[in-house]
Amino acid sequence: MDFFTFRNGVLHCEERSAAELAGAYGTPVYVYSQRTLCDHFDRFRAALAELDPLICFSIKSCQNVQICRLLRERGSGFDVVSGGELHRALLAGADPQRIVFAGVGKTEQELTEALDAGVGLLNIESESELDVLEALARDKGAQPNAALRVNPDVDPHTHEYTTTGKKQTKFGVDLDRAADVFRRHGPDAAVNLRGVHIHLGSPVYDVSAYAEALDRCLELITTLRSEGFAIDTIDVGGGFGAHYDGSESPPLTAYADVIVPRLRDAGLRVIFEPGRTIAANAGILLTRVLHVKKSGGRRFVIVDASMNELVRPALYGAYHFIWPVTAAGHEPQTRVADQPFKDLVPYDVVGPVCESGDFLAKQRALPPVQRGDLLAVFSAGAYAMVMASQYNSRPRPPEVLVDGATDRLIRRRETYEDLVAAEELSGT
Ligand SMILES: Cc1ncc(COP(=O)(O)O)c(C=O)c1O
Repeated sequence: MDFFTFRNGVLHCEERSAAELAGAYGTPVYVYSQRTLCDHFDRFRAALAELDPLICFSIKSCQNVQICRLLRERGSGFDVVSGGELHRALLAGADPQRIVFAGVGKTEQELTEALDAGVGLLNIESESELDVLEALARDKGAQPNAALRVNPDVDPHTHEYTTTGKKQTKFGVDLDRAADVFRRHGPDAAVNLRGVHIHLGSPVYDVSAYAEALDRCLELITTLRSEGFAIDTIDVGGGFGAHYDGSESPPLTAYADVIVPRLRDAGLRVIFEPGRTIAANAGILLTRVLHVKKSGGRRFVIVDASMNELVRPALYGAYHFIWPVTAAGHEPQTRVADQPFKDLVPYDVVGPVCESGDFLAKQRALPPVQRGDLLAVFSAGAYAMVMASQYNSRPRPPEVLVDGATDRLIRRRETYEDLVAAEELSGT
């Protein structure tokens, strides 16, 4: 699943000791495993190889330019949802034709940037957006390729906040209105509307959601083709799960088993937009214990990472396995919260930010912890650093990429100067 392992009681990222990395770079710090990123990308590609798909890594999940560059060199395209993400993809050396651009509220500026860059596919989320793109394309004499993001009304059984393909979410166009969008747009317009896009939500552990959604999309495509529309692209989106406790995600073969037979002979170019599946288990957050205290009958471990660095527990109630980096006698064999050691102590692992919602775990049984200990927060490669904020004027942490026995800084720790860099500092 990844290359974070305990050796002689100390957590290692590939060949590097996490304790040494924390010593060298300070804490909190994000550490990524290059081997895990590559391995996950290769496995994803291998599972779906029969479709010869375009795999567009979803930048929103993990946006560091060096990580994007690594995946680009591995053969990845990119899924972007903003002008900023497009900028990152281009900085990473992406071929614009291998970029897909989604997003429910693209501005005219962002659409113009996409046209100027020549992105391969614009995923359109409303009639209004299609009209705006059409006008911009005519002005520029451009002929962009586009897909319509449809809302197939399928429940992916995931968190309400990350459910995106069910009726009454803001994303895409309802499936029953989709054919009319194509008809109204017509086959000869400036925008070449040639595909259908879905993204059901994330993380999705029930592969039958993809089967249901694809069947509905294929029915739509049959209808459109019978009316003369040349539909040649399907973008299946992202969202397939990752292992947070080591067991919850079905294997990629289960995902492929529902998708490949449906699309094998469909005469469609197939695009995938995985993010979490590739990045989630490729990163950890290292944090140091500042204080341990008792309050109201509970034990608190106050660490130097917070909801600023990792908001997922506060935002979604997400589970992340946490364990001491130096754990002789307590090496965990799994990533489940319930560990088989006799002397564990239940702690709330919390950060220094002035919010009661600032926690990384609640009532988590850990080996006895003291001031100065290092903890690792696992599965922190996706939707982690990308959501980091500077709340309470806390500089964002650095990111380090490990490759075998070598490590390199791929984003430096922010400074106090960075905190105020965009502000007007002179007096009146
Ligand atoms: C349109 C789209 N594609 C792909 C993704 C990536 O999802 P995941 O990281 O779960 O694979 C998202 C995530 O929100 C998305 O909105």
